[in-house]
Amino acid sequence: MHKIIAANWKMYKNTAEARATITELREVLQDTNDESRSVIIFPPFTAIQATFDAAQGSAIAVGAQDIFPAKEGAFTGEISPAMVQDCGATWVLTGHSERRHVIGESDEVVNKKTIYALHAGLNVIVCIGETLAQREAGQLYDVLSSQLQKAFENLPTPLRVDRIAVAYEPVWAIGTGQTATNPDILEAHAIIRDLLKDSVGALNSDVHILYGGSVKPENAKAILALENVDGVLVGGAALQAQSFAGIIQA
Ligand code: PGA
Repeated sequence: MHKIIAANWKMYKNTAEARATITELREVLQDTNDESRSVIIFPPFTAIQATFDAAQGSAIAVGAQDIFPAKEGAFTGEISPAMVQDCGATWVLTGHSERRHVIGESDEVVNKKTIYALHAGLNVIVCIGETLAQREAGQLYDVLSSQLQKAFENLPTPLRVDRIAVAYEPVWAIGTGQTATNPDILEAHAIIRDLLKDSVGALNSDVHILYGGSVKPENAKAILALENVDGVLVGGAALQAQSFAGIIQA
């Protein structure tokens, strides 16, 4: 299975910075189309179009960090799937820990957004992961199981497993420099692979499971070599083209 290498730019980069980063990334990668890697960039809404334009002619795909689950309407401040698609996005993140824990999104909201995005034609990376307190209380399995089951409830059928991926992002490893250990990652990804059998049956092995949380060029190769790790979702280390290229080429 090819690996998905995704960049979550969070609330960083204006349009000029987005263009410059993609241009430099393409120079470093020399537009080589390595079929074993598929690259997705998640810029802030305002830089989706610029990122898409700068990526034209390359294999780099673009996604949105969020969407509102409606076609259009009186939803001040919100952005629909069709709007991000109009700017070139083909992917969206749902359930990112910053949306769950900073913005306060519930599992129900994550589920609604996932369903709506798939119906609208966007591919989705659903993010799940435990807090440090939950891990220390021995709740890893319960948290992963509950977040995954709720996110996957009532998804459109037949579900195309190439249109939905899961990112395991332990909250305590995001933006902290404290990467999960390889045994931690192996354990969580094995749990997720097994849980996926409940939602997608025998096709569970075709769903990409990404790891996210302080991935860097120095640790990407070892993480990507782990069983059930089908890609990485990268925040801080994806902001600089050189560093992100190091992860793509790891
Ligand atoms: P990080 O962020 O790589 O900076 O830890 C990962 C993420 O939030 O997806």
